[in-house]
Amino acid sequence: MIKIFQNYPLKQSNSFGLDSIAHLFIETDDQKELLDALNTNNIDQNNLLLIGTGSNILLSVPNVGTVIHAVNTDITILEVSRDSVLIKCGAGLDWDEFVEWTVSHGYGGLENLSLIPGSVGAAPIQNIGAYGTEVAIWVESVSVIDLSTSRQFTLSRDECRFGYRDSLFKDPAYRSWLVWEVIFLLDKDPRVNLTYTLLKQEFSTGYQPDIKEVREAVIRIRRSKLPDPAEIGNAGSFFKNPVISACQARLLREQYPEMPTYYHDPGTVKIPAGWLIEQCGWKGFREGHVGVYPKQALVLVNYGSATAYEVLSLADRIVESVKKSFGIKLEMEIRVI
Ligand code: EPU
Repeated sequence: MIKIFQNYPLKQSNSFGLDSIAHLFIETDDQKELLDALNTNNIDQNNLLLIGTGSNILLSVPNVGTVIHAVNTDITILEVSRDSVLIKCGAGLDWDEFVEWTVSHGYGGLENLSLIPGSVGAAPIQNIGAYGTEVAIWVESVSVIDLSTSRQFTLSRDECRFGYRDSLFKDPAYRSWLVWEVIFLLDKDPRVNLTYTLLKQEFSTGYQPDIKEVREAVIRIRRSKLPDPAEIGNAGSFFKNPVISACQARLLREQYPEMPTYYHDPGTVKIPAGWLIEQCGWKGFREGHVGVYPKQALVLVNYGSATAYEVLSLADRIVESVKKSFGIKLEMEIRVI
C-alpha cells in the first residue's frame, strides 16, 4: 500500500524533533507502487530525502522536497544451515523489534545492538555499532532500488564498503538508492560477545549469560545513559569518536593519564568524544532549548522547541573548544539535511 501526503510536517519524523515540511511525503511497503508514484508525480530526483525513523538526521532547512519512507516490515528465513541462519528483513521494521525477534528465536549476533533507535533499512547505511559489535559483521547483503533508474539490485557485504559509522550508502553519488531489504547472516549457536568492558561489568565474574541476558543488560545500560527520543529530542551520538595517531595519543596521555582509549587500526587510537567534551565542561550544559545530555556528553538534546540553528551553533562551540584544548577536530556523526 502507498500513502502520499502533501505539505507534511516532519516534527514527528525526526528524533531530534525539529520543524520542517516535506512538499510530498510518500510512505509505502510496495516497490512497484512507489516507482509508479515517482513517475506519475513528476518528482525531482535531485530533491529526494529517503528516511527511516529519522533518528540520525538533523533537519536544518524549513522545507524539503519529497520524503520517502519505506514501511515494509516482513521477516523471512531464507536458509538454515548447521551453524547459521540467513534472514531477510524489510527496511521499514523498527530496528529493536527485529533484534527482539532474532533473540527470541535464539539467533545470535545482534543482541549487543539492542535498543538502538532507527529502522532496519537505516542500520547498514550508518553501520550502527555498540557494545563491541557493528551491524556490518552480520549483514550478508543489502537489496536496493535505484529510484533514478527504477533498477533493483543487491550489494554484497564487501560492496557496501562499511567503515566506522560509514558505508557506501552515505556517498552523495548514491543518494537515489533506497535500501529496501537487508539480509543478515546470524549464528544459530550464539557466541556471546562481552568484549566491551561496560557490558562485561553487568555480570558477575565467570558468569556466562545467554543472548537474552545480554540484550537485557544492553537495554539497562542504554536506558541509564542515553535519552529516550520519545521524551527528549536527540539523535544519539552527535559526533564520531575521533581517531588520532598513537603518537598524539601518547603525548595527550602524559597530560591526561586517565584518558580512555579504544583499540583501532595499528598506529592509531580512538578517543571517546564524550570524554573530550566532558573535559571541556560541556556535560549538562543547557542554553534555551538545546543542551548536552547530563549523562552522556556525546549526545546533544532538544529540550523543547530548539531550532536546527541553535543545535548547530552549540555543536560549533563544542568543536571549537575541543580543538583548542586537545588539538582534535570532532566530526559530526549525524547527517545534516
Ligand atoms: N565518557 C565520558 N563522559 C561522557 C561520555 C563518555 O567520560 O560524557 C567516557 C566513558 O566513561 C567511557 C568512554 O567515554 O570511558 C566510552 O563511553 P560509552 O561507553 O558511553 O561509549 P561512547 O564511545 O561514548 C560509543 C558509540 C555509542 C554506543 C557506545 C557503546 C560512537 C560515536 N558512539 O559511544 O553509539 O552506544 O559507544 O558501544 O561511536 C550512537 O552511535 O548513536 C551511539 C549512541
